Amino acid sequence: MKVTQTAPITVSSSVEEIYQFMKERLHDVVPDFELKYKAELVKEILELKESRNAVILGHNYMEPALFHTIPDFKGDSLELARRAAETDKDVIVFCGVKFMAETAKILNPDKTVLIPSLKAGCSLAASITAEDVRQLKARYPGVPVVTYINTYADVKAECDVCCTSSNAAKVVAALDSDTVIFLPDEYLARNVARETGKTILIPRVVENGTRRLEIPDKTADIIGWPGKCEVHEQFTVEDVLAARRQFPDVIVLAHPECPPEVVEAADFSGSTTAMIRFVEQSAAHRYLLLTECSMGDNIVAAHPDKEMVRLCSVRCPYMNQITLEQTRDALKNMQYTVTVPEDIRVRALKAVERMLQIG
Ligand code: 13P
Ligand code: SF4
Repeated sequence: MKVTQTAPITVSSSVEEIYQFMKERLHDVVPDFELKYKAELVKEILELKESRNAVILGHNYMEPALFHTIPDFKGDSLELARRAAETDKDVIVFCGVKFMAETAKILNPDKTVLIPSLKAGCSLAASITAEDVRQLKARYPGVPVVTYINTYADVKAECDVCCTSSNAAKVVAALDSDTVIFLPDEYLARNVARETGKTILIPRVVENGTRRLEIPDKTADIIGWPGKCEVHEQFTVEDVLAARRQFPDVIVLAHPECPPEVVEAADFSGSTTAMIRFVEQSAAHRYLLLTECSMGDNIVAAHPDKEMVRLCSVRCPYMNQITLEQTRDALKNMQYTVTVPEDIRVRALKAVERMLQIG
């Protein structure tokens, strides 16, 4: 059973059949009393999904009872953007964070895109404004701007092309430019620079009443930005060394939003789906995943023979806002509608489409 495969339950499954499926898949990661209640919610969501002619997209960080039951498609940011671009349903329910739902809306202006919680933000997306990008472009005129997909639509609108954790180096290479501006994740930019042997500089943001950029009076191959993922910045080289000391056979996987020295200390680095595939294709038994903890639970649920070394204080407070209850309410009340002003959407679309063409 692949982690990202959809559940064999359908709208015609009974609550008991859904419960039995969930029990078989999730007994190690979700308590039984919760499964009974959640099976009823799943049934309700599947019925609402059909009556609304909706598709549910679920990011790999969704909690196990949601991840393994209701999404029609699961994956990393790139895969979900592709699914959003392809769907013929009237309604897209995005079980992920706001920048992902916005990307779905940018690709589907005529469809209703719903996000189940208004609190599903992202520290990277919050780290940069459209005005910041305009200032950088004024300082480096003509230099192409790559933005990580973890940004809001108005920031994407100022950029030439998007990238995700699975194609960042490929997108930078495709630009064929000596210098690129790469926003807003400092560590992803540093990891790309390390991987491709490029030099990098990071401007400083000074906040005292007004926001001002301090940009060094020099250039580099990559001009970055001091944005951080508040989840991945918590991992340290000591975490890796401590796990290796205790479990010499452990395989360490790090998301590229982790600090470069952590990525260097790991055995593999890739997008959330690349990490899942690595575990599925590896014969090893024990893994340390340096990423949001739900993903480890989701892998173990589908592959009980694999063991995750737990560092489970590390949760994404934004992804965690999306629950089965909120998703049921989203479909029931058609909330919360994601909107993007048309002039911004059209400009942001160019950056998203260019990324999808690069692959
Ligand atoms: P992926 O594209 O690798 O799923 O990453 C999204 C994200 O927000 C990771 O923190
Ligand atoms: Fe944003 Fe980090 Fe959460 Fe991903 S894990 S949504 S980058 S805060």
